[in-house]
Amino acid sequence: MTAMVAGVPHVRLTGITRVYPARGGQPAVSALGPLDLTLRQGELFAVVGPSGCGKSTLLDIMAGLSSPTAGEGFFEGKRLSGDVPEGVGVVFQEDACFPWLTVTDNIAFGLRQLREPDDAVREKVRHAIEFMGLQDFSGAYPAQLSGGMRQRVCIARTLVLRPRLILLDEPFGALDQQTRLLMGDELLRLWRETGATVLLITHALDEAAMLADRVGVMSARPGRFLEIVETGWSRDRDSTVVADERFGRITARLWTHLRAESMRVMGHAKSGSKKQNGNSTLGAA
Ligand SMILES: Nc1ncnc2c1ncn2[C@@H]1O[C@H](COP(=O)(O)OP(=O)(O)OP(=O)(O)O)[C@@H](O)[C@H]1O
Ligand SMILES: [Mg+2]
Repeated sequence: MTAMVAGVPHVRLTGITRVYPARGGQPAVSALGPLDLTLRQGELFAVVGPSGCGKSTLLDIMAGLSSPTAGEGFFEGKRLSGDVPEGVGVVFQEDACFPWLTVTDNIAFGLRQLREPDDAVREKVRHAIEFMGLQDFSGAYPAQLSGGMRQRVCIARTLVLRPRLILLDEPFGALDQQTRLLMGDELLRLWRETGATVLLITHALDEAAMLADRVGVMSARPGRFLEIVETGWSRDRDSTVVADERFGRITARLWTHLRAESMRVMGHAKSGSKKQNGNSTLGAA
């Protein structure tokens, strides 16, 4: 099923910029770039950055839904253009389930659109429901679920399509801290078991530091990568890494950049390093 070509990066973006044109009296907005990014096959890459720096814009471009103003993007060697490519699953920021459908029907929705046979749909949905721990709620409507459960339905709805690249835009943003940590564990399990490449956009530095293989720290709008931090965690990590002293170092490193950038945005004089696509490794044990 995997259409990987050896040596080809899973996702490659080069020289990407995005300008939203002026509209209805609003001036044009330079939202993103110029920015380069390469995602390695099977890695979990997190993106952090100040609000409005272009993170969701970046995700739209990676999903093939929004064309960059300049530059080009490739998924598995094929150019991104106009549509979500086969093999890419997206959970949008503030994604919502269909309120009129049960958990089962929400999760089955995409498969039915693909006109998969009923038996196959039933089996895949059953597996996804089990995987996300929603067995007791398969017949429930979204309004009868907690926020965390609704989010699991959104993720299951994407997961059931077996994407090789999963794009998640602040999937745990609305959840309390302990639920976020547990959902983080679930995401790690999902990532390990599916072998998918994952791009996770988050505003939570601790989430990025705990979950990712690499964390890209973005500048204020127009967003560029100030630094890409390698965390060095093993593949079988879980949320208990928050007690590791390396976790503190990674989070501090991310905050140093983000603090300097946020201060710059807020008009303070001091600013941090402006290196584009710099890399650092905090992983050495
Ligand atoms: N469709 C659009 N038309 C015009 N401007 C847009 C559009 N979408 C986003 N923008 C602008 O582009 C900039 C980047 O927006 P984007 O949603 O990508 O930021 P973000 O980093 O995801 O923010 P947040 O952390 O708040 O989710 C913002 O200034 C926003 O106003
Ligand atoms: Mg956003």
